[in-house]
Amino acid sequence: MLEHDVIIVGGGLAGCRAAVEIARTNHQLNIAIVAKTHPIRSHSVAAQGGMAASLKNVDTEDSWEAHAFDTVKGSDYLADQDAVEILTREAPDVVIDLEHMGVLFSRLEDGRIAQRAFGGHSHNRTCYAADKTGHAILHELVNNLRKYGVKIYQEWYVMRLILEDGEAKGVVMYRLLDGEIQVVRAKAVMFATGGYGRVYNTTSNDYASTGDGLAMTALAGLPLQDMEFVQFHPTGLYPVGVLISEAVRGEGAYLINSAGERFMERYAPSRMELAPRDITSRAIAYEIRAGRGIHPDGSAGGAFVHLDLRHMGKEKIMSRVPFCWEEAHRLVGVDAVTQPIPVRPTIHYCMGGIPVNTDCQVRSSDSTLVDGFFAAGETSCVSVHGANRLGSNSLLECVVYGKRAGASIARYVENRPLPQINEQKYIQEAQQKIQALLDQVGQYRIQTLRQTFQDTMTEFCGVFRTAELMQQGLNKLRELQQQYSQIYLDDKGKDWNTEIIEALELENLMVVGQIILASAFQRRESRGAHFREDYPLRDDTNFLQHTLAYYSQEQVNIQYRPVCITMFEPQERKY
Ligand code: FUM
Repeated sequence: MLEHDVIIVGGGLAGCRAAVEIARTNHQLNIAIVAKTHPIRSHSVAAQGGMAASLKNVDTEDSWEAHAFDTVKGSDYLADQDAVEILTREAPDVVIDLEHMGVLFSRLEDGRIAQRAFGGHSHNRTCYAADKTGHAILHELVNNLRKYGVKIYQEWYVMRLILEDGEAKGVVMYRLLDGEIQVVRAKAVMFATGGYGRVYNTTSNDYASTGDGLAMTALAGLPLQDMEFVQFHPTGLYPVGVLISEAVRGEGAYLINSAGERFMERYAPSRMELAPRDITSRAIAYEIRAGRGIHPDGSAGGAFVHLDLRHMGKEKIMSRVPFCWEEAHRLVGVDAVTQPIPVRPTIHYCMGGIPVNTDCQVRSSDSTLVDGFFAAGETSCVSVHGANRLGSNSLLECVVYGKRAGASIARYVENRPLPQINEQKYIQEAQQKIQALLDQVGQYRIQTLRQTFQDTMTEFCGVFRTAELMQQGLNKLRELQQQYSQIYLDDKGKDWNTEIIEALELENLMVVGQIILASAFQRRESRGAHFREDYPLRDDTNFLQHTLAYYSQEQVNIQYRPVCITMFEPQERKY
């Protein structure tokens, strides 16, 4: 059996930052990261627009309090304000720390870190590296893993969290290369496995964003929090759905409908294109519904709107958002210097996740914690984003809470023995699961079933929701879960069998999908990204609460826990 003091699942920003902090705190500790891709290929690498922090380099009036208020208002008052205070107070220090590690942020003329405007932020506070910020940060963090001697298991797929008697003891993992299965035991397990964009059919997320950590946590009997809050990024490139960064609007681009109007005037007159994402995405969806979307031939009634950069000029476009220009050019043949970019909302981020306290230890209920289990980053819900995340707060969360997770894990494992695990039992169960998949004489191809599932989630739990629609979604999902037991694999081998991984991922996607739908069904109000046409108003009397969803195959049980309000009383949210 493999043994480490700490095993971190996920090689993106939160996992890497936690590993660095553990090593910095106690270099004697034996730390490992396991990831299904090489860490450099984690989805964090795709983050574009930047990372918010009140450095005041551009806007001297900014403060952590203003950042905290914007974040809480943006969250539609569902964020826990103790967690937001930590996030926004610690932001400037973590940015400077990254700079000292060597991260190449874009600069002002005088050499200080540049900061740009972003949606829902009242000051120019987003630090960036052109429109490749995640790339710049992740590369330095991965370099640091090597410097600190962190063991990396790359291209190993974690199949299961070992949780016994309320204590996390390790994981079971599968090597893509040759199908080898290993049990790892550790004094602390951390999940930093990112989001679940692939639950939907159009997403800015990479193919690996299949909610594995979320599903493994739910299958272990632990709750997931606020899973109904699914973020649509307003500007997914049409039709592929990849991200055209909010930075493009931060640098001055306009959203235009088929009538040539800057339609955000109708929805958020004081913020226009820089309203928070829930409002901007709904505005685009309303315009398209009202027949003011655009067709590829330029006529009205189509499925996208235009993002117009032309007035920004070539020099600004190429220096501030070169990657977005390149994406539009390479993927849909649009030269954004002379032509508008076709965009529509795309699934981007999951506000919910594994509930944790501000030391990143996982909650098993409102008042109890899981021994030895920690989480940070998109897979966790601390909750700093509440019902709607502001752009450029997610890289920040990964770094602030990745660092905090590392510090608390280093303390936690100090006097803790390695747990006892029945290795053979777990190996056998994992082998049987893989063999059953290989032997299954089914009738459904994984790819077809996954597509039907993604289309179902998109149709029945998208931007606009009703009880009737979601009930249909839940019924359909049950049918699809039946069909999962009849999938078949073409590849019967063990070497680099990506079909096995796709089958395991699809099981996870379906668990996550069911939890999203069940949580959304029970929340009979509209708040942030969760918009119910049958309950169009926010209802603080009944729903100023976090959802805790407990999964079982028969049903998802929903409970609620209170929101932490320390600084800002809920108000009507207007922009
Ligand atoms: O639009 C963007 O660049 C995305 C940033 C974010 O999700 O924080």
